[in-house]
Amino acid sequence: MRNLTTRLVILLMLALMIITGIYDYVRLGRERERLVEQTREDERIFAETLALAVSRNVRWGRTTAELKELLDDILARPGLVAVAIYAPDGQVVAETVSPGAAAPTLDDIVRDALASKEAVSALVSAESGRLLRYVQPFRWPGRQTGAIEVRQTLAGMEREFRRAVRENVLSRLVVLALFVLSVVALTRWSIARPIRALMAGAQAVGRGDLAQRIEVARRDEIGQLAEEFNRMATNLQMAHDELLHQAEERLRLEQEVHQAQKLVAVGMLAAEVAHEIGTPLNIISGRAEVLERVVPREHPERRHLDVILKQTERISGIIRALLDYTRPRRPSLRAEAIVPIVGRVADLLLERSRRRGVRLELDLPIGLPRVLADPDQLQQLFLNLLLNALDASPPGERVRVTTGPDPLLPAEGRAGIIRGKVEGPCLPIHVVDAGKGLTAEELDHVFEPFFSTKGRGQGTGLGLPIVEEIARAHRGEVEMLSIPGRGTEVIVRLPLAGSGPPDPGGRTRDSAAEAGAHGD
Ligand SMILES: Nc1ncnc2c1ncn2[C@@H]1O[C@H](COP(=O)(O)OP(=O)(O)O)[C@@H](O)[C@H]1O
Ligand SMILES: [Mg+2]
Repeated sequence: MRNLTTRLVILLMLALMIITGIYDYVRLGRERERLVEQTREDERIFAETLALAVSRNVRWGRTTAELKELLDDILARPGLVAVAIYAPDGQVVAETVSPGAAAPTLDDIVRDALASKEAVSALVSAESGRLLRYVQPFRWPGRQTGAIEVRQTLAGMEREFRRAVRENVLSRLVVLALFVLSVVALTRWSIARPIRALMAGAQAVGRGDLAQRIEVARRDEIGQLAEEFNRMATNLQMAHDELLHQAEERLRLEQEVHQAQKLVAVGMLAAEVAHEIGTPLNIISGRAEVLERVVPREHPERRHLDVILKQTERISGIIRALLDYTRPRRPSLRAEAIVPIVGRVADLLLERSRRRGVRLELDLPIGLPRVLADPDQLQQLFLNLLLNALDASPPGERVRVTTGPDPLLPAEGRAGIIRGKVEGPCLPIHVVDAGKGLTAEELDHVFEPFFSTKGRGQGTGLGLPIVEEIARAHRGEVEMLSIPGRGTEVIVRLPLAGSGPPDPGGRTRDSAAEAGAHGD
């Protein structure tokens, strides 16, 4: 059976019906016996009184006709079906019988009464129903004994009894119906409702909503069940969170191992390249410098020499970047103010930003907390970020360096990637540009060594991997957010230098850099 309430109601009803059924059966049986007994008693009193009257009349020598008249009057009494007077020899002297009833004759019951001179009563079955017979002996003239018999039908009583049974059954049914209704209402309210709440909770948890709790403010078993359920859900949630945390930790470790492997591979390659290319490159640039000195400035082929010198410089730049990337980075960390570091980088890029027509804006407030930093490495980090931002920005735009807890780029249409992991309080530095931005797929690759969208000979694809390396070495993290066509934001989060004094650098709006933006 699907429904608990229905099942409970049916079981209760069955139990109730059996109990009240047995009780009523016994009670009504007794009642019936009592009624018969009462009728018997009534009949006895009546028969005794009648016997006295008849005995007197017989002694006075009344004729049979007169006796019969007497009996006819008596028969008017309700329930009587026959009255008869027997002489000592058992002959019926006078009788009166209601229509349809059998006429009294001498039989064992009468003989018994005459012989014993004691009243005899008997319950006999007749066609018209049960009959109660009562034979009362009385004194007959001449020291003899006659008898009078009264027959009473029990049909009326039976009818009455059947009506009582009917009423009884009916009232029982009404009580039962009321009972069922109240049980249904009660179970709905006190069992079905909280159980439904339990079920809803269990289903929600089954669907994975581990934050689900059941509110049952009761102290009974259902309340305890709800409490246990809630405890279980809490444990599940804790276990779930723990697993999630472990998985994240594993992923972080894997990423670190991956990064280290990349470093080793690129490092071997870089050493090889530096060794193989470095020497011939030095020879080429040496010879070119010699030629530069000897070839006159006006010489028509002099421009080839300039190209050679520029390109050899590029090649050594690439080799430097490779070696730089793979150089083991063990920073000497100390409490440092961030503003002077970023300021130095801005100074370095002054000329470049002016040429590109991009305004470089430093928007860092007074009193920034100090971070744990290796200034040289952080300088490298911000240099790489600002170079990328400048490269991506069209003329007339600006590149901002600022701080704050939340990204400046709106969340809509924004993709992101994060490297490293910072724990505890940190200082976030944002580098924001309004350049061409990056797609989510591109973002997935930007931290891979040699990934570059810049034209051939333009980018090494090592700028961001170095940024990641330095951020990790500072136990910090770097997050890159971008909306294609709208701009890019890189947030570097660096752990604070404990409870050191705040950064004395103050607000630095790099006027030189700003001036540069208006330059061309
Ligand atoms: N601020 C930025 N805006 C748009 N794209 C960027 C930005 N910074 C980095 N990128 C993309 O990430 C790539 C990798 O950057 P990086 O590692 O510095 O290498 P490189 O600058 O030598 O190409 C770049 O080629 C560019 O496509
Ligand atoms: Mg770069």
